[in-house]
Amino acid sequence: MRPIAQLQSEGAPAGGELRVPRHVAIIMDGNGRWAAKRGLPRVAGHRAGAEAVRTTVRAAAEAGVEVLTLYAFSSENWRRSAEEVSDLTGLMRFYLERELASLEKEGVRLELIGEPEGFGPDLAARLEAAVERTRGNDKITLVMALNYGSRGEMATATRRLAERAKSGEIDPAAIDEGMIAAELQTARWPELDLLIRTSGEVRLSNFLLWQAAYAELIFLDTLWPDFDQAVFADALAQYGRRQRRFGGR
Ligand code: FPP
Repeated sequence: MRPIAQLQSEGAPAGGELRVPRHVAIIMDGNGRWAAKRGLPRVAGHRAGAEAVRTTVRAAAEAGVEVLTLYAFSSENWRRSAEEVSDLTGLMRFYLERELASLEKEGVRLELIGEPEGFGPDLAARLEAAVERTRGNDKITLVMALNYGSRGEMATATRRLAERAKSGEIDPAAIDEGMIAAELQTARWPELDLLIRTSGEVRLSNFLLWQAAYAELIFLDTLWPDFDQAVFADALAQYGRRQRRFGGR
């Protein structure tokens, strides 16, 4: 496989500098369809999807992305069958065990957003331990969104601001965008630059709604398990060619 840096530079504008997004987020969609196309159970799609996660984390680090946020389980995913929920949490557990050493070796710092305690004390504690163990790593930050919903995140932030106002710590009239952003779970990372969704669906599904305000959006037909270095490099090159104006001209 060719290095992602090479694939990326091939996609760069002629003579142009390649802009690398500091923060990329991905809605990893299409595992079920990938499995169905092969006559396999859905869990096989999730398993293949988890393999694509490994490749993507490596490729992102190699490309110079600082933060990669992946939507692994939404607060709405509890509506899936008990069997599928248990398959997904089982996979998380399995990969956590299997991948922790390579996360360490490759300098990946694991962080979480969402409410992982919803998965129960055992898995939540394992996740927290993995976050602790990788705290010193600085090659790339991998943020797993687990039991995450953007509206819920904003409601929590609003509640905190209301409490701080009630206690007299802040003046309600002084609440501005910066103060809201500072209460979100993503506050410590750079602004979201690029949001990718796979599988041909064109919606945000309650993912990083506030953070995506000025992000570039890329919707790909590729099903998540087929997402690889080359597809990623292509998306990064597409981002590099876009003009970001942030509302200006
Ligand atoms: C969407 O595919 C994907 C998910 C609901 C979860 C993403 C999970 C993984 C990538 C694997 C597990 C992750 C880890 C970290 C071990 P879908 O089921 O909605 O696909 P469909 O739309 O084709 O049915």
